[in-house]
Amino acid sequence: MLEVRQLAYAYAGAMAVRDVSLTVGAGEIVALLGANGAGKSTTVRMIAGALRPQHGTIHFDGRDVTRAECHEMVPLGVALCPEGRLIMPQMSVRENLLMGGYTRRHKAERDAAIDEMFTMFPRLAERRDQLGGLMSGGEQQMLAIARALMSRPKLLILDEPSLGLAPMLVRELFDHIVAINARGTSVLLVEQNARQALRIARRAYVLEKGNTARSDLAENLVNDDAIRSAFLGM
Ligand SMILES: Nc1ncnc2c1ncn2[C@@H]1O[C@H](COP(=O)(O)OP(=O)(O)OP(=O)(O)O)[C@@H](O)[C@H]1O
Ligand SMILES: [Mg+2]
Repeated sequence: MLEVRQLAYAYAGAMAVRDVSLTVGAGEIVALLGANGAGKSTTVRMIAGALRPQHGTIHFDGRDVTRAECHEMVPLGVALCPEGRLIMPQMSVRENLLMGGYTRRHKAERDAAIDEMFTMFPRLAERRDQLGGLMSGGEQQMLAIARALMSRPKLLILDEPSLGLAPMLVRELFDHIVAINARGTSVLLVEQNARQALRIARRAYVLEKGNTARSDLAENLVNDDAIRSAFLGM
C-alpha cells in the first residue's frame, strides 16, 4: 500500500533523514522506532505531504505521491495525527472533528463520520461541546486521532500518540489503535514507547541518525538483545 524508497531530507543544510526505506501493507500495523532526533517525524511528514522529499520516492496505492501535498494526500487516504496533538484549544470537540472532515463535501457524510467517532470514543461524545483546550491530555490525544479518522483514511499515521500519557491511558490508547486497525485501516505508528508499539505491531523499523538501521517482525525485535537494551530498558 505504502512504499517509501531512500528518502532524504535536510532542514537548512542539517541532514535529518539520510536514507529511509519502508513499506506498509494493507491491514498492517507497522511501528517506526528510534531515539530522539533519529528522523521519525521528518519521515512521516514527508509521507503525509507536509514536507517535500529532497531525495527518494513515495508510492501509495501504486501511485507516485513523492511530490504530493497534504491536501492531496488526505483524499487519497493518508492521514497524519501529528506529534504534539495540535488540536484547536478554542474550538469545541465537535468543531475539532469537523476540521478533520473537511474533505467530505456533504453535511450528511460529515455528520455520519462524527457519529461514528462518538461511538468509537464515548468520552468525546460526552464532551462534544467542551473546548478542546479544556480536555485532559488523554482526551486530547483521542480527539486528535478521531480528527484524523474523520477523513476515513486507508492509512493512519500516528506520531508519538502515547507521549505524556499515564500508563493506563497508554494501554487504552493502544487498544483503540488495534480496534481501528481491525476495522481495516492500516497504521504506521511512530513511538518511543517501543515495548507497547511492538506489542501491537506486526513489523517494525528502527531509525538511527536518519537511516533505516533495522527492519524485522515485531516478535524478533522484542527478543533481540541490542533492541532490548537500546529501546526496552531490559
Ligand atoms: N523544523 C526543523 N528545523 C531544523 N531542524 C529540525 C526541524 N525539525 C527537526 N529538525 C532536526 O532534524 C532531526 C530529526 O528530527 P525529527 O523531528 O525528525 O526526529 P524524531 O525522530 O521525530 O525525534 P523525536 O523522537 O524527538 O520526536 C533532528 O536533529 C532535529 O533537531
Ligand atoms: Mg518526532
